[in-house]
Amino acid sequence: MSHSLRDDDGVSNPSRNLTLSDVVDRAVAVNPSRRRLMLGGLGAATLPFFAGLTGCGGGGSDAAASERILGFTPVSTSTADTVVVPAGYVATAFLPWGEPINQFAPAWKPDASNTSAEQEQQVGDNHDGMAFFGFNAAGNGFGDRSDEGLLVINHEYINPEYFYAPGSDPDDWLAPFTFEKARKGQAGHGITVAHIKRNADGSWTHVKNSPYNRRIHGNTPITIQGPAAGHDLLKTAADPLGTEVLGTLNNCGNGRTPWGTYLTCEENFNGYFGWNGARTPTALERRYGITQNGFGYLWHTVDPRFDVNANPNEPNRFGWVVEVDPFNPAGKAVKRTALGRFKHENAELVVAPNGKVVVYMGCDERNEYIYKFVSSGTFDAANPTSAANRNLLAQGTLYVARFDAGTTAGDKMGTGEWIPLTPGTVGLNGQALRDNPNFTGANDDEVLANIMIKARQAADAVGATMMDRPEWVAANPKKPGEVYATLTNNNRRGSADPATSNNADGTTTAGSARPAVDEANPRANNVWGHIIRWNETGGDGTATTFTWDIFVLAGQPSVTGARAPSANVTLDNLFNSPDGLAFDSFGRLWIQTDGSYANSGDFAGNGNNQMLVGDPETKEIRRFLVGPAGCEITGITWTPDRKTMFINVQHPGEVGSHPNKPAAYTGDNWLARNPTSFSQWPTAGARPRSATVIVRRTDGGVVGG
Ligand code: FEO
Ligand code: CA
Ligand code: CA
Repeated sequence: MSHSLRDDDGVSNPSRNLTLSDVVDRAVAVNPSRRRLMLGGLGAATLPFFAGLTGCGGGGSDAAASERILGFTPVSTSTADTVVVPAGYVATAFLPWGEPINQFAPAWKPDASNTSAEQEQQVGDNHDGMAFFGFNAAGNGFGDRSDEGLLVINHEYINPEYFYAPGSDPDDWLAPFTFEKARKGQAGHGITVAHIKRNADGSWTHVKNSPYNRRIHGNTPITIQGPAAGHDLLKTAADPLGTEVLGTLNNCGNGRTPWGTYLTCEENFNGYFGWNGARTPTALERRYGITQNGFGYLWHTVDPRFDVNANPNEPNRFGWVVEVDPFNPAGKAVKRTALGRFKHENAELVVAPNGKVVVYMGCDERNEYIYKFVSSGTFDAANPTSAANRNLLAQGTLYVARFDAGTTAGDKMGTGEWIPLTPGTVGLNGQALRDNPNFTGANDDEVLANIMIKARQAADAVGATMMDRPEWVAANPKKPGEVYATLTNNNRRGSADPATSNNADGTTTAGSARPAVDEANPRANNVWGHIIRWNETGGDGTATTFTWDIFVLAGQPSVTGARAPSANVTLDNLFNSPDGLAFDSFGRLWIQTDGSYANSGDFAGNGNNQMLVGDPETKEIRRFLVGPAGCEITGITWTPDRKTMFINVQHPGEVGSHPNKPAAYTGDNWLARNPTSFSQWPTAGARPRSATVIVRRTDGGVVGG
């Protein structure tokens, strides 16, 4: 019996002083061609001395004069069970699944026999989005120190074949599936807050006796706030007010705010739910992919909270962006319903010129949409951690994107519009959303609550553009209003005649449409993915119009014609399925992959999942890192001085179509009983474990430069 889980690929169908680099950046802003002139002519050999001398003080970017966008020698692909980084770099695993969260927590057991209560005190599984928050000078709150801070890590899901010690049933290692096993699974999700400190040699230590160390998991009480809080669709027998939910699940990508909080994004929440007995799913359930057996977690068989027949509104309490203050270990996390309910990937936050906070977000499923939230209030930059700032995500306007062809068809660029999802917005059917039966309410407050809970259906109603699985969104810190999004792949694009779209009345089953190719999603059967970027009108994140183009179409240079990659893909930087995406403060675009590691056919020469760096100006892309066997690379953050980079290796050891799959492998039941047979990353002799990886330069310089 197989219990393979489907993850995000298993789409449910059914005072900072000016630094030298700042000076360079300002000059480049005036005249972009000067970047090469100013940076290229300076010798890299001087960097270690600069780097050592400028490391004093608090945070800030202290890059040396020779820092370049692509200042490293690219690495080759790899199918090995190890992390590969460029010459002059070191990579060290840190805080793996099961690591005790503090000095009192129990040790990880290599046979996976830890209990649910123990797992609640240990680092969760499947590390994903992540952010480093430096301490202030006093060491008691949010600041910009690079030597000590809080690392906050998402835990997206679990791999049952490694997560549970096998039972005695030779055909089913998970039998019998018990409430205790469900609780352990729930404890493997959520986030970890870890207090960490840099040592004199540049390595890092987990400060185990710190009160900041914390787990939030699938059963931690969380406040529901915003327009949907208290709506009937969020009420359950356990929470008749609809204002508090137990837990956060499928914590995928992340965001961070300038007031020092962390945003964790709930993605494939639908996979945890199922039903016992008979049920005809509602249109809302179908639109969000709620099915009888979910993704195979089995929780609904032992825990009524996840049985939709017993608790039909529980799924509505997931699919949100959750805000957490890591510096307040006793504080409750908050689900911010003003940002809409969908399969959230990450939440990229920028402050617009007028002070409004803009949060860009993708909904990761085939043919879903790209959204942005614009706050009602404005950010007070003089008092970053003020109470008013800390409530900016409570209220605002949610928009969804439409990508149009522009004046020229076929040039893979165009114009676009942000459509507000508000009660008065008129949909494709000529009705205002307040008059659309999917969203009606006693007043506009209730209509807005319905729109937030049913955000996918609201986006259907207004004719948003169906995209090739929107993953991470990243805003260019060096060019206000320029924003990039990964579109990881879509095997349902352009492959049927006639093409079908998501129905404007919201009745589509999630992931079931087969849209034709369009200007922004230009390839049929897009197995390699692409990265789109847009520029908000006037460089203003609150604008409602934009222009867009494509930064890269991944693929194979040998493929020509309509499915050819873009010119910046070469035999030296092959990759597929871009997913994680983030800019560092210098303006490098870091690209992480979660794609096929078969290393054959369409994916020949791609090797294991990897991380690359792109130059936004020239579009050049170089490979920086390759992960171990069966993993994806996801999540990225830096110390403010950019001398330490943290990334995550998620699900090492997933066998899939890996070329080094063990000859005796017959499936997950076999793997559960032979857990060291394929990957032993990061600890030789032990089962594979998701973990953070600390990447730094041996000479102490800035990473990537
Ligand atoms: Fe959790 Fe879409 O990646
Ligand atoms: Ca065009
Ligand atoms: Ca992802």
